[in-house]
Parts: sequence; structure tokens; C-alpha cells
Amino acid sequence: MEKPPAIVANGLTRRFGDLTAVDSLDLEVRAGEVLGFLGHNGAGKTTTVRLLNGVLTATAGSARVLGLDPAVDGAELRRRTGVLTETPSVDERLTASENLNIYAELYGVSENTIHKRVAGLLDMFQLADRANDRVSGFSRGMKQRLALARALLHQPELLFLDEPTSGLDPVSTRQVHTLIRELSRNGGHTVFLCTHNLEEAQRLCDRVAVLEQGRVVALGTPTELAHNLGQGVRLELETAPGSVAAALEVLAAFRDARDVSQTDGHPRLTLALPVRDNIPQLVSNLVAADVPLYRITPQEPTLEDVYFALHENKES
Ligand SMILES: Nc1ncnc2c1ncn2[C@@H]1O[C@H](COP(=O)(O)OP(=O)(O)O)[C@@H](O)[C@H]1O
Ligand SMILES: [Mg+2]
Repeated sequence: MEKPPAIVANGLTRRFGDLTAVDSLDLEVRAGEVLGFLGHNGAGKTTTVRLLNGVLTATAGSARVLGLDPAVDGAELRRRTGVLTETPSVDERLTASENLNIYAELYGVSENTIHKRVAGLLDMFQLADRANDRVSGFSRGMKQRLALARALLHQPELLFLDEPTSGLDPVSTRQVHTLIRELSRNGGHTVFLCTHNLEEAQRLCDRVAVLEQGRVVALGTPTELAHNLGQGVRLELETAPGSVAAALEVLAAFRDARDVSQTDGHPRLTLALPVRDNIPQLVSNLVAADVPLYRITPQEPTLEDVYFALHENKES
């Protein structure tokens, strides 16, 4: 049986005076998925996380998170969710181990499991050898890993990560990405990941919701989003050096082919077609013209393509 969704928002709205930070948000997050909540600064990501955790009340609309109403059962809900806030603070005066122990007690982790759980997390987050060092001497990446470990102490089913890698160097970013992927694959966690970073969303998320001025303007996998935007498919094909001219001739005569270009000095061509179903006809035309085909690869649309196409559509 399919699990019920982890999060359902219906018309969720939050205003601050005249400003509508979250505007009639309708969203369903599936149990076990990594949902990317993608938007510029000020789009309403953090406000949404706060609404969904019941630390902020909605102006209108409602939400169900793990079957609970955050506006009513916030305290109970927060025992089952883990939140990595935008600027998490770990206690610099304490050691890594002390930071985790204090939180474990706060979260009510039972006395006899605290030690094992803290040790396990320190290990997983590659902090075991620094467990008894004060956090004040830690790098930014180490502090972020510690904060992420802290959000997992009570083994939450649902994890909110608010810009988990902003301000981290590439190596720390990669470590945090690996951890997030492990959490969703092996730990079965549902992850609600706020980010303004397209590459991060593309790399980590099963689906992406694009948020603009408090509204979800698109939702789906990058491929689905591209399809909905009528972006078509991009192909790369490889022929023999002596057949590039003949291939270009076929492509020029093929009404649906757009954006044809040749990779400098290589017998490789790229082009765009409106739909996948154009591919067989194109291949057949190339074969009929005696153009040898060594490789033909559809290129999955990237989130970047989609994101910029969304903005272009709006401007035109
Ligand atoms: N407590 C608050 N009081 C007034 N305005 C706020 C408050 N929190 C957020 N906002 C405003 O709401 C909008 C959305 O903010 P936020 O949710 O933090 O966006 P994001 O996390 O996507 O950067 C912004 O314009 C921000 O200035
Ligand atoms: Mg934010």
C-alpha cells in the first residue's frame, strides 16, 4: 500500500503586513522523496518551513504534516521532524559530543540509547576523531555537519533542510550532499530541501517545486517540467567525419529540427526536436541518405534549462 503523503498544504498563506510571503501554497510531498523547494532569496522558502513546523501560524489555508496539523499539534510534530535552519548555531564553547548529548536529552532520547546514537552520528558525519574538541575550533563545514547530525538525533521521519550548503566550500558541500543522499536512500527519510542552487536541486532531488514570490510556479522532475514547458528534446548524434555535410543537409530539410550545431572539429551534431516521436523519422531520413550513425543520445533537460525557460516564458 502506498504511504500517505508526508506533507499536504492547501492554500497555505502567510502575510506580514502588506507582504504576502507564502501565497496560497498547494503542495503534496510524498513519503520518502527528496523534494526540492527552489527559489531566489525572499521567495518564501523559510517562511514555508516555519509554517509546516508550526513555529509560525498561517494567515489562511491549512497543512497536514505527518498527519498532524502544525497549527494545533506543533509540539508533537516537532518531535517527529528534524530541522536544519538557515543559520544553525551550535554551541561553540562545548565539544561536538557535548553539543549532541545536550540535544539528545532535550529531545527525550532515552538514557541508555544516547551514548550509542551520539557515537553513531559522530561517526557517520566524520566527526568521531574530533568528538571531544571544542566546536570553536571547527571549520564551517564541520559545524554544518554537526548541526545536521543534531537534527537527526531523535530519528525524525521528515527532515527540513533550509539551504544546507550555503556558504560551504566545494568539499564540504559534497560531503553534505553525500550525507543527504544516504539519508534518503538508506534511511528512508522524507527530505524537504530548500535551496536557491539549481545544481544542488538537480543533483539531490526527486522532484522540484519552483517557488516565486510565495507561489509554486512549477512542480515535477526536471524532465516533466521541460515537457510541460514544451521544451522538446535535445539530441546529440555522431557520424563519420566525411558525412557531416550530408547529415547537415538532412537536418536542414527536416522541418522540426531546431538549433542545429556542430561540435567544433568533431563529427558530432546537436539539435532540438519538439517531441520524442520525431526521432524515428529523423533516423530513418539519415539512414536513407547513407549517413552512418555511430551514436544518437537524447539529452535529459537540466533543471537549469527549465528554470531559465520558465523565466523566459514569463517575460514574453
Ligand atoms: N518575520 C518576518 N517579518 C516580516 N517579513 C518577513 C518575516 N519573515 C520573512 N519575511 C519576508 O517574507 C518574504 C519571504 O521570506 P523568506 O521566507 O525568508 O524567503 P526565503 O527563505 O525564500 O529567502 C521576504 O520578503 C521576507 O523579507
Ligand atoms: Mg530562507
